[in-house]
Amino acid sequence: MSIRDLRSDPVPDEYIDKILEAGRWAMSGANSQPWEFMVIRDQKVKDALGHAYTHDNNDFIFWMEQMRIPELRHPAFQVGDVDAEQQQKRVQDRGAKWTDAPVLLVILGDGRRQWGTVQGALSYGRHQSHFTDALSNAAMLMHLAATSLGLASQHVTIHVQEPFKRVLDVPDLLLVHHIVPIGFSAIDRRPSVHRPLEDIVHYDQYDHSKYMSNKDVVEFLYELRGKTMHAYHTKRKGE
Ligand SMILES: Cc1cc2nc3c(=O)[nH]c(=O)nc-3n(C[C@H](O)[C@H](O)[C@H](O)COP(=O)(O)O)c2cc1C
Repeated sequence: MSIRDLRSDPVPDEYIDKILEAGRWAMSGANSQPWEFMVIRDQKVKDALGHAYTHDNNDFIFWMEQMRIPELRHPAFQVGDVDAEQQQKRVQDRGAKWTDAPVLLVILGDGRRQWGTVQGALSYGRHQSHFTDALSNAAMLMHLAATSLGLASQHVTIHVQEPFKRVLDVPDLLLVHHIVPIGFSAIDRRPSVHRPLEDIVHYDQYDHSKYMSNKDVVEFLYELRGKTMHAYHTKRKGE
């Protein structure tokens, strides 16, 4: 489960080493291993990343989300029936809770390592890419390692690279793919919303009775938004 509210209690260094070690063993196209990891513990750096997130990244996302009707916007950007400027302020005021996490792991990508895999995977099209798939594989192993150690984690996507690169002094050719805050959970677990197996599994041949039309997909999104809003508007344990 994605935990978007972590306690600031410290995490033992050996736990972080184990999590990083798990990421190192991830699958990647032709084993080209396009990842590097940064471990952020310095609160000043965390706060600077948080500022880049709320003021640059989320400003961009916020205004893109304005282009669709409120009910279909990403839950983090559904912040009440007020005018756009007030909504924007609410998003910004909410800040980046993950800066409270004792440790942030930043997943970097080195696109040049794609040179190790088949050229077909690099072609621009609907089914790119061995690159970001590999980064997510590494991150997934790290999420599982964290969970197995009794910790909690989250996936914070970076959409606007430059401000984060400036904070971390990351070279131009690398990608700041996402941030994985790690710590102990501040919230109670709750059931997550995932599509049932019978809707998504096909045996031997594709079962067209399960195929969703474009309209079905949009209706699914309406329903999903309704069910997952709470994940972004959580209450701390005991509140
Ligand atoms: C590619 C990808 C990007 C994601 N980006 C974000 C993000 O930017 N912020 C966030 O809070 N969660 C993010 N998530 C987490 C998903 O929202 C979450 O996994 C999903 O809603 C299912 O919920 P669960 O992990 O609690 O089961 C991301 C997950 C993936 C795989």
